[in-house]
Amino acid sequence: MTIDWEGSFAPRMRRAKGSAIRELLKLLDEPGIISFAGGIPDPALFPREEIAAAAQRILGDPRTAAAALQYAPSEGYAPLRRFIAGAMAERGVACAVDNILITSGSQQALDFIGRLFLAPGDTVLVARPTYLGALQAFGAHEPLYEPLPGPGSNRMPESGGSGGARRVKFAYAIADFQNPTGESLSLAERRDLVAGAAALGLPIVEDAAYELLRYDGDMLPSLLALDAARAGGIDAGSVLYCGTFSKTIAPALRIGWIAAPRAVIDKLVLIKQASDLHTSTLDQMILHEVASTISADHLARIRRTYRSRRDAMLAALSACFPASCRWTRPAGGMFVWVTLPAHLDAEDLLRRSLAEAKVAFVPGASFHADGTGRNTLRLNFSLNAEAIATEGLRRLGGVLHRALAG
Ligand SMILES: Cc1ncc(COP(=O)(O)O)c(C=O)c1O
Repeated sequence: MTIDWEGSFAPRMRRAKGSAIRELLKLLDEPGIISFAGGIPDPALFPREEIAAAAQRILGDPRTAAAALQYAPSEGYAPLRRFIAGAMAERGVACAVDNILITSGSQQALDFIGRLFLAPGDTVLVARPTYLGALQAFGAHEPLYEPLPGPGSNRMPESGGSGGARRVKFAYAIADFQNPTGESLSLAERRDLVAGAAALGLPIVEDAAYELLRYDGDMLPSLLALDAARAGGIDAGSVLYCGTFSKTIAPALRIGWIAAPRAVIDKLVLIKQASDLHTSTLDQMILHEVASTISADHLARIRRTYRSRRDAMLAALSACFPASCRWTRPAGGMFVWVTLPAHLDAEDLLRRSLAEAKVAFVPGASFHADGTGRNTLRLNFSLNAEAIATEGLRRLGGVLHRALAG
């Protein structure tokens, strides 16, 4: 008898669907395509030699190799946890090693947080638009989404506690250089969010994936730093901070972390155990050695390169896009977010752009928990060199002018 696979899957899998856009973006390997679709770092900026040397050293010594290749504690490699606790202190949060859990990328942190807090029908506050990977990680638990209070509004929904049909379990926020918009929260907005959530007893999940990729101005305090100062320390606070080395060292090592109150970390460790026992020790040891010895020039070079690419993208948008389009001017991160005139559909535009101009981008609707935003799109600026991006935006601008003409 043949198995009815769809009927056999758990009901929560009903929401997990591949998208038509994924199918379209499979065309990206065709020659001549200029893609603004990926959200990925430029591989030329990976510290390849440092990673190779660290791997050599660790595996070349039988003692370190034995530890690197053996099972290990679920919490993570202790020297790496200590290093991260030190880095968090430099960013204004006094943290003990026990406040840090190493995860396999910050994507796993989001997955675990969803598992820890969400039951079907619970509510999560998210920005519209927000990071698609967070919607996917939380979506497995069939939550409802409500909008995170936007700029200028400190209205927080009622209820963080128990009971009621609608339990708001946490707010998910990216304070710096959001994926997909590139926008950041101002200091006043950060303060409002932290104070509003604290007044309700509502946890905040802070996704800090792009925090260090700042190209203009000074760093602002993280939500975690503000909350720890308010509460008198991380353990008395209500922020779960998700960090990653993917954007500054290399995503393939899959090293991220959660900094959170001990009571939360203790539960997350149990989830980590059940999920994958621990993150690869070899990768943690390599990452620790590279991150703790790499020169400040490395991050400076990444920032210089991406700043110049952002500037080239903004200049090309001004030169080539119709005046009726609007876009963000991010001070960091990897993305510019474009809003088209309301009657244009970015998915139709993508089809046309691939066929007529061989240019790809990500239509914006998938970043909206409520399916709105059909006239928006995301452009990545970290991957393409300036001349290629400028040519791609010239071509995409041409498609847009033609679409608007009729
Ligand atoms: C906002 C945001 N959070 C988290 C991640 C996950 O990154 P990683 O799992 O590589 O740390 C990404 C990746 O693009 C992201 O854009």
